[in-house]
Amino acid sequence: MTSVRTAVIPAAGLGTRFLPASKAIPKEMVPVVDKPTIQYIVEECVAAGIEDVLIIDSSGKSAIGDHFDRLMGLEAALEAKGKTTELEVVRGLAELCDIHFVRQGVALGLGHAIGIAERHVGDEPFAVLLGDDVQVDGGALLRGMIETHEEQQGSVIALLEVEPDEISSYGCIDPIPIRDNLYGFERIVEKPSAEEAPSNLAVIGRYVFTPDIFDAIRQTEPGVGGEIQITDAIGLLNQTQPVTGFSFKEGRYDCGKPLDYLKATVEIACMRDDLGPAFKDYLKGFVATLD
Ligand code: G1P
Repeated sequence: MTSVRTAVIPAAGLGTRFLPASKAIPKEMVPVVDKPTIQYIVEECVAAGIEDVLIIDSSGKSAIGDHFDRLMGLEAALEAKGKTTELEVVRGLAELCDIHFVRQGVALGLGHAIGIAERHVGDEPFAVLLGDDVQVDGGALLRGMIETHEEQQGSVIALLEVEPDEISSYGCIDPIPIRDNLYGFERIVEKPSAEEAPSNLAVIGRYVFTPDIFDAIRQTEPGVGGEIQITDAIGLLNQTQPVTGFSFKEGRYDCGKPLDYLKATVEIACMRDDLGPAFKDYLKGFVATLD
């Protein structure tokens, strides 16, 4: 078992980037191929050895709870029809790991949402996974970050190089190389303009925190957008307990952006053993018709 037992998945946001799909269903339930994005995130936790997940949701998000629950009516209907494969899939979702829910009643920002996890997490290190970033790597990034946390005894944030004109969508650091793909930093800024950005290394939605982040969140004043930003809390924590940046290159899809969401759908479908071969044949034919 890893030293990080709990993962926190903030899922309270309105999903305005994904309207109209997210009007009546939570954006976390929008499927990529045939699985809601939040299922990929929970499966990533399990693949990285984490078996306790806390989802921070908000009103209107109860479909997420239903997705990971036993639905006896559905199970009975599948059983009666002899649909054993489907039955296993449906039941398996309730057995993936321990899933708990707590609500963020007021939308005060990502830092505030993560702060709500304190009572559940207690005095232990924990991971945070943001639902818009779907990471298809069998848990490799998260496992690597947990190992780095164990080695450095501090918090770890995921970093990805992005195009300069994209950096204003992310947290950003001024990298100080440690070794290989590890960086320290002095500054971390939330959503800087391309001109102000200290680098093009963006903070991506995977974090491993020591419980000291909760004190830092408490001390964090509202920042960009008037919200309590986790980026600012990380900046505060870094002053007393160095935070390590863990850069990676592969496997990430920003499913909060329609174009990246489409890429995720196509590429993940191609990777599937059941759908991939037929879908690739179709795609090759379709691409040949494009001008
Ligand atoms: C959040 C964080 C930001 C981070 C990003 C990663 O922003 O505030 O620092 O870079 O997630 O996806 P959001 O996408 O919620 O605006």
